[in-house]
Amino acid sequence: MKLSGNKILITGGASGIGFALAERFINKGNAVIVCGRRKDVLDEAAAKLPGLITIQADLSGPEGREELYRKVQMDHKDTNVLINNAGIQQWMKVSDENFIQRAKDELAINVEAPVHLTHMFLDHEPLSVVMNVTSGLAFSPLAKTPVYCGTKAFLHSFTQSLRHILRERNIEVIELIPPALNTDLGGKGLHDFAPPVSGFIESVFEQLAAGKNEITYQFSEVMLNSGPEERKAAFEKMNQL
Ligand SMILES: NC(=O)c1ccc[n+]([C@@H]2O[C@H](COP(=O)([O-])OP(=O)(O)OC[C@H]3O[C@@H](n4cnc5c(N)ncnc54)[C@H](OP(=O)(O)O)[C@@H]3O)[C@@H](O)[C@H]2O)c1
Repeated sequence: MKLSGNKILITGGASGIGFALAERFINKGNAVIVCGRRKDVLDEAAAKLPGLITIQADLSGPEGREELYRKVQMDHKDTNVLINNAGIQQWMKVSDENFIQRAKDELAINVEAPVHLTHMFLDHEPLSVVMNVTSGLAFSPLAKTPVYCGTKAFLHSFTQSLRHILRERNIEVIELIPPALNTDLGGKGLHDFAPPVSGFIESVFEQLAAGKNEITYQFSEVMLNSGPEERKAAFEKMNQL
């Protein structure tokens, strides 16, 4: 994708990886819109990044997604890049009493939202790039987050199909595959063990400049290119079998 002169919508872009992408894209001469549920987090992001456009939106249901799409069509017609980044990660056991509700919440934001938004944005004429944020856990699951890993495996697969389907329309489909990074994903402190987002972002922009459409880093680089034996070994190590 070209790295400047775009108008980019980043879902969940007021914190973590999405915010770091927004910052870098703005510095490179793009207009950036971010959305999320928490108004205070959106306001904080806008205060840190002059020029950032924020829209409060809850993407867990169809109404919130449709409203976001309408707002973009009305106020930001020239948006040409959709980044499906918003996600949640639920640490839980399948036997937990509230498991089904938490699983549904996770499926709604991690699976249904990117599928629905992508479907709607295909009617948006300027669309030239769809970027989906998956995870190294798509390839080797962490059993403590059983539904999360499944959602990312789904999104990896969907992204591959989308890339094939949209080639004839000249719409580029990029997959961002982060390894564990230090954000608030899953709850404050759960990712404190992981490296900062900055090194990942540095590498993302080098890989985008090189024209890659599957963007990996460290663990996710190894996982994407691994065979069954390496995946089995990674699974056993991660889950301490
Ligand atoms: N950090 C990691 O280790 C890691 C590794 C691999 C992949 N990823 C992926 O990277 C993406 C970004 O995660 P992150 O690590 O940057 O964590 P994060 O800071 O928690 O970002 C997630 C964002 O999604 C938004 N969001 C969640 N539910 C939403 C909803 N219903 N409607 C609208 N927005 C919603 C959140 O904003 P609100 O809460 O304000 O709505 C938040 O800004 C996720 O897809 C995650 O799965 C992260």
